[in-house]
Amino acid sequence: MRAVQITELSGPATALKIDDVPEPPREHPMTPGGGVVVEVKSAGVSFPELLQTRGEYQMKPDLPFIPGSEVGGIVREVRGEAQVKEGDRVAAFCMLGAWAQQAVAPGYFTFKIPDDWDYAQGAALVLNYHTAYFALIARGRLAEGETVVVHGAAGGVGTATLQVAKAWGARTIGVVSSDAKEQVARAAGADEVVRSDGPWKDEAKELSGGGVDVVLDPVGGDRFTDSLRSMREGGRAVVVGFTGGSIPEVKVNRLLLNNLEVVGAGWGAYVMGKPELNREIGREIGRLIDEGHVRPIVGARFPLDGAADALELIDERGATGKVVLELG
Ligand SMILES: NC(=O)c1ccc[n+]([C@@H]2O[C@H](COP(=O)([O-])OP(=O)(O)OC[C@H]3O[C@@H](n4cnc5c(N)ncnc54)[C@H](OP(=O)(O)O)[C@@H]3O)[C@@H](O)[C@H]2O)c1
Repeated sequence: MRAVQITELSGPATALKIDDVPEPPREHPMTPGGGVVVEVKSAGVSFPELLQTRGEYQMKPDLPFIPGSEVGGIVREVRGEAQVKEGDRVAAFCMLGAWAQQAVAPGYFTFKIPDDWDYAQGAALVLNYHTAYFALIARGRLAEGETVVVHGAAGGVGTATLQVAKAWGARTIGVVSSDAKEQVARAAGADEVVRSDGPWKDEAKELSGGGVDVVLDPVGGDRFTDSLRSMREGGRAVVVGFTGGSIPEVKVNRLLLNNLEVVGAGWGAYVMGKPELNREIGREIGRLIDEGHVRPIVGARFPLDGAADALELIDERGATGKVVLELG
């Protein structure tokens, strides 16, 4: 089968090679003896793969390896327990191996997608929406009627978070860096949009009538202190990622002064090996899909041999919604 591999840790322009490789084993390493084989129609491209081309991601498989954590496609084989059957159109999270014509996912990480979604939307579902749900609801304890600030609001995690927050009855304020990204954030459900290079902290305070309840932050960097300043008493700042490049430090007196919380949300590490939790989050996301709240926004689409361009788009801060590879 055709697949893209990371063959060296030299960055997105040179680390990838497209080649013919053997089909994957029919079981997933997380579920020995079981797995769902998916004919990949579309594969997600995300920040971790960019970091993987530089050897900067926490998970460092031996070289060469096929990157890509999630796919949209058609089930070709099921072994062991699964909530899908052969022929189903699915979204699946496979952790690695997605940038290939076939990928294998654990049964509990494979979900049917609606008939009116394309496969790219399937490839955009699991990582971003399960993370958004875990971060906002499980970790951020978002309640109906609260106000949420979402940083990187036009990105993959950002657009998913806006949709989940709206589904929860929250008021949403997206923070973005450009006009084009403002449009994407609004399409994803942002009630208000403010600019990351403007006085967004004061605007967010004003728009929320005194301070926001939850800040969802996949960006990090030097805006974190302003995130704390933007919150009302009892606010929760949920740490999701560091696309801005630097890891913020917190002066803890700020937490004491306004009874604030800084909460970590590491979805991947927490949910791996917890089948029932993943099924439960999948059921909740399924309900939000059925109710019309969740519909992934796909930005750029590349062919399999355009994977380096896809990574460079993310690297240059040009991505909106989900970036995908389409395998036809
Ligand atoms: N904790 C978890 O469990 C978990 C799960 C999934 C993903 N993540 C992490 O969440 C982060 C966001 O992922 P994503 O897929 O949403 O990424 P994305 O689609 O590329 O969006 C990231 C956003 O970050 C903003 N940004 C600010 N400074 C940036 C810079 N220097 N370079 C690039 N982007 C910059 C951009 O928005 P503006 O231009 O509008 O500022 C961009 O839209 C990543 O770090 C990822 O690893 C964490």
